[in-house]
Order: sequence, then structure tokens, then C-alpha cells
Amino acid sequence: MKELKILAVVVFFTLLTYWGVEPYAHSVMHKHIESKGFQYDDLKPLAKKGDAARGAQTFMNAGCIGCHGLKSQGMPAPMDPNAAVASFGVNPPDLSNAGAVFDAKFLANLIANPEHALMVEHKFSKAGRSFPMTAFYGLGGDKDQEVADIVAYLQSIAPKAEEVTPKMAFETACGRCHAVHYDKWTQIGERPKFKHKIDELKFEEKVVDYQDKLTKYLGKLPPDLSMYIRSRGEHYLKTFMEDPQELLPGTAMPRVGVSKESAEKVIEYLADVGDSKRAERDSVGKIVMIYLFIFAFLAYLWKQSIWKELH
Ligand code: HEC
Ligand code: HEC
Repeated sequence: MKELKILAVVVFFTLLTYWGVEPYAHSVMHKHIESKGFQYDDLKPLAKKGDAARGAQTFMNAGCIGCHGLKSQGMPAPMDPNAAVASFGVNPPDLSNAGAVFDAKFLANLIANPEHALMVEHKFSKAGRSFPMTAFYGLGGDKDQEVADIVAYLQSIAPKAEEVTPKMAFETACGRCHAVHYDKWTQIGERPKFKHKIDELKFEEKVVDYQDKLTKYLGKLPPDLSMYIRSRGEHYLKTFMEDPQELLPGTAMPRVGVSKESAEKVIEYLADVGDSKRAERDSVGKIVMIYLFIFAFLAYLWKQSIWKELH
């Protein structure tokens, strides 16, 4: 009877901690924020309908390829990542998939005023530094139309939404700042397999050089995201990506402006990578169970034989 009472008390406090205190602590430590559907309501709506053919010309004249590559159109990046990070503090991403990964309204606002769309004015113009991506001032015609044309061009050359793999979305939107060592991703690209130690060291040196300069640019090295799906969870990652300032006020992480579908792809990528060991864990679990069964069976046989001798 006494034991039962003790058990009841233990169960009661365990449940109280679990249901009462844990979610409370959680809500205090992590502000709960709902996604706004990646609408970017604070940004100016796209007023004009873009023309992709005209946009191709405008894109060339706007000078975007002075800093960005467009590999799918046969235009490699003007600099390698290490030269780019030395000039800009970060490697401007290749724009081949930009029209599919980033929201169209966001892209238009980014072209006209990059710092504002990315929400990093507090780290640049307001802190007396100039932002490395120059704003597009227009080519003399109707600027809104010119911007809309560039966006239409980027969309026209981008793969269709369903052809954008989770990894492509990640590389375009996050890969210039975040490494994912579980997937061999470094900020300067995929870590190759090396035959010679010397080549591996040379590659490592480039990674470290890039990370040093990136740290100077952002004030902090962006974390490796291999484990974030597990440490932060999907909801946090989603709402953080949508508006980093809301969850980490003052952070240097830009609002990258991914579309809703691309945000889901980025999450899928982080889930694939962060939980790739799950299959392995499960199979190890099974092996352990089988081992325990065999062991228990042998122990049983052994006990039987000992007792047989004793009787
Ligand atoms: C002087 C160099 C320069 C020019 C010119 C330039 N960019 Fe950029 N761009 C950058 C840099 C640097 C970044 C990365 C900034 C960062 O992450 O802090 C960037 C980032 C971007 C991004 C990614 C933004 C995001 O949300 O993650 C897109 C898209 C982009 N630029 C498009 C363009 C287009 C289109 C043009 C031409 C109208 C252009 N850029 C002109 C340097 C440049
Ligand atoms: C221009 C560089 C840059 C880009 C691009 C970028 N990030 Fe970040 N990110 C940062 C920095 C810097 C931090 C550190 C923020 C801090 O602690 O203030 C960070 C932190 C994070 C964190 C950790 C947040 C936390 O609570 O500790 C996550 C998760 C993250 N980024 C996800 C992403 C994802 C997903 C993308 C692409 C959609 C992305 N980032 C693109 C610079 C970047």
C-alpha cells in the first residue's frame, strides 16, 4: 500500500514536470513564432509584369555578372570563392537557380535595395559600412520595369520548381555562409575525395581562409548546419529562415528571401543530412536486440546445464 502511494506521487510529479514545466520552459527560452507563409508583406509588391527577353539584355547591362556566375548559361563566376571573399567578404552565389529558389517579389526588392530586402542595414549603412552588393539604379528607363524584366529573365532560365532539388535550394540560399560537414559541404563547395594528403591540406587551407574572411564580414562564423534539424527542429528553422531578426534581434544572418516551396526544400535537405544516421541507428538497434536475445538464450542453456549437474 505504501509503495503504491509512493508510486502515485512519483508519477504525479513526473507528469507535472513533463506537461507543465517543460513546455513552459520551452516557451520562455524559445519565443514561439508562426510562419507568415513566406509572403514578405513588408516589401514593395511587384508592380510591373516582366519581360524575360528584354530582361536578358537588362541583366547583362546591369552588371550582375561582374560579381555573380550564371553557370547554366555558360557564364562561370568571375572569381573563385577565395578571391570573391577577399573582395566582398562573402562569395556572391551563382544565379542559375535564383529565379526558382528566391521569391519573385523579394528578388525585385533585393535588386533595387539589397541591404533592405536582406534586413542587414543595421550591420551596413547604419553602421557606416557599405554593403558589397551594389543596388541597381536603373538604366535610364522605367526602373520598376527594368527590375521586373531582370526577375522575369532569372525565372525564365531557372529550372522548374519541381526540378530544384533540396540540395540546390540549400546551395543557392545558404551555401555561401554555412558548412554542412555531414554532407561534405564547405562554404567554397563540396569537399572532394583526395588521393594525396597535400591536396587535402591545400583545400583545407582555402576553407579556413574563406571562413576567416567570412567571420570578419559577419562578425561571427555561421554555424555548421549538419545537426540543426535535431537541435532546433523544423519549426524553428522555418521561421528563422523567414525572418531571422524576429528570433535573433540584431543578427547578421540575412533574410534570404526563399519562396515557400524552397524553404521546404532547404528543411528537407537539412533533415536528410541531419538524420542520415537514423537508418544506421535503427540497424544498430536491431543488431543489439538480436545479440541480447542470443545472449539470453545461451545464458538460459548454460543455467540449465549447471542445474542439471547440481541435481
Ligand atoms: C558588386 C558585386 C555585386 C553586384 C554587381 C551584384 N551582386 Fe548580387 N550579391 C553580391 C554579394 C556580395 C552577395 C551576397 C551578400 C551577402 O550574402 O551578404 C549577393 C547576393 C545576391 C543574391 C542572393 C540574395 C539572397 O537572398 O540570398 C542574389 C539573388 C543576387 N545577389 C542577385 C543579383 C542581381 C540580379 C544583380 C544585378 C542586378 C546583382 N546581384 C548584382 C554582389 C553583387
Ligand atoms: C550571408 C551569410 C548567411 C546566409 C546566406 C545564411 N546564413 Fe544562417 N547564419 C548566418 C550567421 C552569421 C549566423 C549566426 C547568427 C547569430 O548567432 O547571430 C547564422 C545562423 C543560422 C542558424 C542558427 C540560428 C540559431 O538559433 O542559432 C541557422 C539555423 C541558420 N543560420 C540557417 C540558415 C539557412 C537555412 C540559410 C539558407 C536558407 C542561411 N542560414 C543562410 C549567416 C548566414
